[in-house]
Amino acid sequence: MTGAPELTGPAAQDLNSFPPGGLAVVAGSTGAIGAGIARQIEASGRFARVIGLSRSGSGGVPFDLTDEASIAAAALAVGEASKTAPLRLVFDATGMLHEGNIQPEKSWRQMDPAAIARVFAINTIGPALLMKHFLPLLAGEGKAVFATLSARVGSIGDNNLGGWYSYRAAKAALNQLVRSASIELARKRPESLCIALHPGTVESRLSEPFARSGLTVRPPREAARLLLQTIDNLSAAQTGSFHDAEGKEIVW
Ligand SMILES: NC(=O)c1ccc[n+]([C@@H]2O[C@H](COP(=O)([O-])OP(=O)(O)OC[C@H]3O[C@@H](n4cnc5c(N)ncnc54)[C@H](OP(=O)(O)O)[C@@H]3O)[C@@H](O)[C@H]2O)c1
Repeated sequence: MTGAPELTGPAAQDLNSFPPGGLAVVAGSTGAIGAGIARQIEASGRFARVIGLSRSGSGGVPFDLTDEASIAAAALAVGEASKTAPLRLVFDATGMLHEGNIQPEKSWRQMDPAAIARVFAINTIGPALLMKHFLPLLAGEGKAVFATLSARVGSIGDNNLGGWYSYRAAKAALNQLVRSASIELARKRPESLCIALHPGTVESRLSEPFARSGLTVRPPREAARLLLQTIDNLSAAQTGSFHDAEGKEIVW
């Protein structure tokens, strides 16, 4: 895929910890953070190719997190492409906080089974299926990373405010999936990592209704640069971890 040129701000992360010439996949490449990630991987020059996955399929491969057959078909296309360039990075930038009538709950009174199921379908089950179909495609030797965007509010140890019941719970469950998958991955691909990341508060459709004044809100480009820097700095010993965009570990 080709992104808009990067004209201002600090240079993209060089991603030198990855062997050169690999394949990268960005799931949710139409999202604010996902688009930034795809552009910066391309700008790094370290990867031979970046494939974007999105619901519209715009500029890449179509998929929907709620349709496993579409995820399997996307994995088949990526598997074909990985025959010429080994798959070294899968960045899952999908997720949902609000959609139509679904809004984060302020009280237990607002919990609705259909809304909770939808929040889990997008934030937990979809990424679990991405792990199922894409982890086996990661390169067998050299650094390879599956990273998924979780959220600090998914940390149970850090939950001092309450509220946002379903989103918090869905991201906490995602974190547990990452941890389990990292243990299985370590047995099969000891140089690979499976990690959860928190991007900070970033300008996007997702955060727009909730970005309170006084809160530091990052442009997606800056968030993407910091997230890729964090990935670049992590080694296989740190698989199964949860980090923020500054590279600090977050309590589960
Ligand atoms: N922004 C923040 O402040 C913030 C803070 C903490 C964590 N996060 C996390 O960061 C991630 C990215 O958020 P963002 O701010 O970049 O939001 P965004 O701009 O709304 O992007 C969300 C992405 O998820 C995709 N998506 C949603 N439902 C999907 C489905 N059923 N199938 C396939 N793709 C689907 C969207 O695709 P479409 O373009 O097709 O809708 C879009 O690419 C999320 O996991 C979010 O929880 C964000």
